[in-house]
Amino acid sequence: MAVIAQKCPKIKVTVVDINPKRIADWNDEDLDKLPIYEPGLKEVVAEARGRNLFFSTDVDAAIKEAQMIFISVNTPTKTYGKGKGMAADLKYVELCARQIAAVATDDKIVVEKSTLPVRTAQAIRSILDNVGNGVKYQILSNPEFLAEGTAIDDLHNADRVLIGGDHHTSEGQAAMDALANIYAHWLPKERILQTNVWSSELSKLTANAFLAQRVSSINALSALCEKTGADVEEVARAIGSDSRIGPKFLKASVGFGGSCFQKDILNLVYICRSLGLQEVADYWEQVIIMNDYQKRRFAENIISTLYNTVSGKKIAFLGWAFKKDTNDTRETAAMYVASILMEDNAEIHIYDPKVTKQQMISDLEYLTASQHHSITTSQIKEQLHVHSDPYLATENAHSIALLTEWDEFKTYDWQLIYDEMMKPAFVFDGRNILNAKELKAIGFKLYQIGK
Ligand SMILES: NC(=O)c1ccc[n+]([C@@H]2O[C@H](COP(=O)([O-])OP(=O)(O)OC[C@H]3O[C@@H](n4cnc5c(N)ncnc54)[C@H](O)[C@@H]3O)[C@@H](O)[C@H]2O)c1
Repeated sequence: MAVIAQKCPKIKVTVVDINPKRIADWNDEDLDKLPIYEPGLKEVVAEARGRNLFFSTDVDAAIKEAQMIFISVNTPTKTYGKGKGMAADLKYVELCARQIAAVATDDKIVVEKSTLPVRTAQAIRSILDNVGNGVKYQILSNPEFLAEGTAIDDLHNADRVLIGGDHHTSEGQAAMDALANIYAHWLPKERILQTNVWSSELSKLTANAFLAQRVSSINALSALCEKTGADVEEVARAIGSDSRIGPKFLKASVGFGGSCFQKDILNLVYICRSLGLQEVADYWEQVIIMNDYQKRRFAENIISTLYNTVSGKKIAFLGWAFKKDTNDTRETAAMYVASILMEDNAEIHIYDPKVTKQQMISDLEYLTASQHHSITTSQIKEQLHVHSDPYLATENAHSIALLTEWDEFKTYDWQLIYDEMMKPAFVFDGRNILNAKELKAIGFKLYQIGK
């Protein structure tokens, strides 16, 4: 929304949220206090805020005033009842639809910006038409393809924008064109694709499933490389040079995290199962199974390398965010690795340039409720140590696990870090951050995924 406001100065954009703290942070004079860290974002907000970009908690007023409403609320995996652990929880979307229906007094275009299961627009339509004040609604699907860490660039130079709507009526087509005209302020028309609503909803889930599938495919091969002496980076380069395959998303890693991949694939699997497509569901579910395996394999490899126990040992984590250039930690591989090591009584010392201690604690507390992890809140209190200095985090550590590929890690004085570590000193590199030769030259025993 900030980028729309930046690129369309004549359109008034009001972002509303029921969380007053978030809105207060978006309005903070100090742009370093924006609730999301994202390169380039604060410059965009600085340009548009107060001009045509506003942040408010007055949801009703914003609904009344708007001609177009983007529903962008969270759609997490359900944690209760039917579809628990698989289906998308649509209660926040439903509440939005009900609020729009209750408040709107003139015709609106309602845009699904959240990632939603295919055919959600039907549910939104049913609520709007049955609860509403008789006003007319056009419902469009406009899924978001940006990636955190590169969001601003992804929006400024989007490969494509997808708009799903009702081609068959003139009102439907007009609504699609109205939304297309917004993006046409900065994107070439041929990158703005129009489809039917169901194709658009399904394309978002499918895009994430394909991307995550590539990560799981290369990670599966990393396990095979370890057993055979092949080098997964060399294999990735060799296959990625084939133009039919392409080089992107072929980097072996400790596993994908983030709020979207897992949630969206689980949702896809759930939809397939609900529709009786068992084989299709099983096929996509394997992407998640492989990802869980990779995270566990990484943690277990640390334990086995450190002579089969990490009890009482200091393990330094460089990085906690699920990827570089974001402070988002949802589903970060780091928390799963930490939990497995803490179950083995390790002392975890973490440094991340953007993630707060409170966030790390709440991530781990989320795992205490999971049936697959048995860490307790008192273990979190006693075994988790958060540092604001990477050199203190790694001092006297038995090993370092590189969990996020922050660029600043490459600039450290690795000789100094090595000198201050327990020997033999190990680095577990799930993200290929360091130059292996340099590390070896100074005496680290380097464990790299795939080698
Ligand atoms: N984060 C991403 O990179 C990304 C990328 C593409 C798509 N998406 C999709 O976008 C959606 C939102 O993701 P997110 O990461 O921004 O989630 P988020 O949890 O960070 O933000 C959702 C916000 O919605 C607010 N909210 C909930 N109910 C509300 C209501 N009734 N009225 C007003 N505000 C309400 C919450 O307070 C919260 O601030 C999800 O469906 C996600 O799958 C996210």
